[in-house]
Amino acid sequence: MVKKIVAGNWKMNGSPQDIQSFAHYSQILTKPDQLDAIICPPFPLLGEAKQSFHEQLLIGAQDCHGELAGAHTGDVSAQLLQQMCCSYVIVGHSERRQDHAETDVMVGRKILAAQELGITPIFCIGEQMDQRRAGRWGDVLAQQLSILRDEKIDAGMLVVAYEPIWAIGSGARAENNDIVEAHGFIRAQLASLANNASKIAILYGGSVKPDNVVELSQLADVDGALVGGASLKVEDFSQLVEAFGATL
Ligand code: 13P
Repeated sequence: MVKKIVAGNWKMNGSPQDIQSFAHYSQILTKPDQLDAIICPPFPLLGEAKQSFHEQLLIGAQDCHGELAGAHTGDVSAQLLQQMCCSYVIVGHSERRQDHAETDVMVGRKILAAQELGITPIFCIGEQMDQRRAGRWGDVLAQQLSILRDEKIDAGMLVVAYEPIWAIGSGARAENNDIVEAHGFIRAQLASLANNASKIAILYGGSVKPDNVVELSQLADVDGALVGGASLKVEDFSQLVEAFGATL
């Protein structure tokens, strides 16, 4: 069975007070062992999360550099993330691809760096609205996934997140049938790229909220969610964890 995952991406939000709210939640959180609940705060809050979170709530980072150390001002290495007890790291998020001109090659290096340190990458892919309208979403996803052809990448230690760019922050998640179609396509692509494709968790991201999560959690090939806005409040995040937990 594929592990279920609910990962909160706080992006450039959150405060030490929010870490404390989630620290309290982590102490009362009960969930099945086959479900990972993760919070990915901004880098400066990782130390506080490490000190405060009970082990039921895992820590993730929002990015790492492709190299393990060196002259890269403002960047953070997977090595340091490991020391901050990060179990996961988001790589290739569309906001980083756009704001920091990250290419597929750079994302591939980040995946390798994370894996080298024993941190599971949450590898984000997704198409823009004009690409979907032009019927090119499959080509876009296949191109982004093709970096997994690098035989050094360990497909056994990888999570893929499908985040259609047009659904992120829009308030409306993608339609069920579009999600099922895209996840089925990603699963098939992974089968041609990795031996254990059926074990790779595929998350959906883009306006996942308490009022649309139950239906989402029951869709084929949806193994969890990568969540922005609704991961900032304990009351919302806990409902997302409960919904995916109920599927186990
Ligand atoms: P929202 O849930 O706010 O749409 O953000 C999704 C996302 O980008 C998670 O990485």
